[in-house]
Amino acid sequence: MIGSSFSLLHLALSAIILPLMLSVTETETETTPYDDAELYDVVFEQLDYGLDYYLQLARAAGGPILDLACGTGRVMLPCLSAGLEVDGVDLSASMLARLREKASAKGFQPRLWQASMASFALERRYALIMIPFNAFVHNLTVDDQIGTLSRCREHLQPGGLLAFDAFFPGTGIITAPENTRVLETEVLHPKTGLPVRLFDTRSFDRVEQRQFSKVEIEMIDSHGRVASTHTSHTVVRWIYKTEMELLMRASGFAQWGIFGGFDRRALRLETDGMVVEAWNSNPGHVRGHQGDTASGQEHRAIAEKHDVDKRDVGRNNK
Ligand SMILES: C[S@@+](CC[C@H](N)C(=O)[O-])C[C@H]1O[C@@H](n2cnc3c(N)ncnc32)[C@H](O)[C@@H]1O
Repeated sequence: MIGSSFSLLHLALSAIILPLMLSVTETETETTPYDDAELYDVVFEQLDYGLDYYLQLARAAGGPILDLACGTGRVMLPCLSAGLEVDGVDLSASMLARLREKASAKGFQPRLWQASMASFALERRYALIMIPFNAFVHNLTVDDQIGTLSRCREHLQPGGLLAFDAFFPGTGIITAPENTRVLETEVLHPKTGLPVRLFDTRSFDRVEQRQFSKVEIEMIDSHGRVASTHTSHTVVRWIYKTEMELLMRASGFAQWGIFGGFDRRALRLETDGMVVEAWNSNPGHVRGHQGDTASGQEHRAIAEKHDVDKRDVGRNNK
């Protein structure tokens, strides 16, 4: 008797609570870490990941630069401050709005477009296209990966360079405990100086090479208590080195290098990162197209350096 009234009560409650739970889950799923750019910047604005590398390439480019998946301008703003001409594309309206605000406060009005990296179409052709901070792994399908690389190649000047980083999915990443809340990073809030903690709860689809993250950002108050928690979700696609080579071939790049870090060391360890540089035509041809520009010299020097170790360099002989 108790059991059946419990069941009835349970059923009745389920009818009310389940739809509520579903709608909460739905809302959470729709929220990505890029929907609240101000919050994103609280955690990531000061991050210097890859900054020197991209700045160095940008200084050497000798022509217009496209920051693809530019976010709130972590890389673009220092490039603009260095007097370089940089346009930006990002999928998130919130990230672009914040970038526009920050750029304008510094007296810059960069040309920004809201578009997917897999399908953007601009008039301009660039000496350098960069995709910093693992943004490329947001391409979840082979179509989108090849779409992004092909759009990049089409938007490069002859001899122009595409450069991007994508984390390497080594054992430590793909066998990490699932559904376990892990503290990824803790920073101090730029305004209050109080701690801000980012937790990531991951799960994996190892067949589709997808990594799902529940991201929770906790604001800590002056008593050390959690004042608020902001939850969002994101999905990324694991990419391996030989898969990257295939993608480069399929996207029609003339030559590429796949490296283990921003220092262009060989990718030999599964704990390495993955940094890719690709030219839409052999960089040796830059002289013919652009004259002996600083960018031509720099790109040739990099390409010649890459030629030293053939295992890291691919060429499209089609
Ligand atoms: C990790 S953030 C990196 C932002 C910036 N590149 C940096 O280095 O700080 C990833 C960015 O990729 C953008 N993004 C995600 N998917 C995208 C897509 N399909 N096309 C364009 N941008 C995308 C997000 O909106 C976000 O701004």
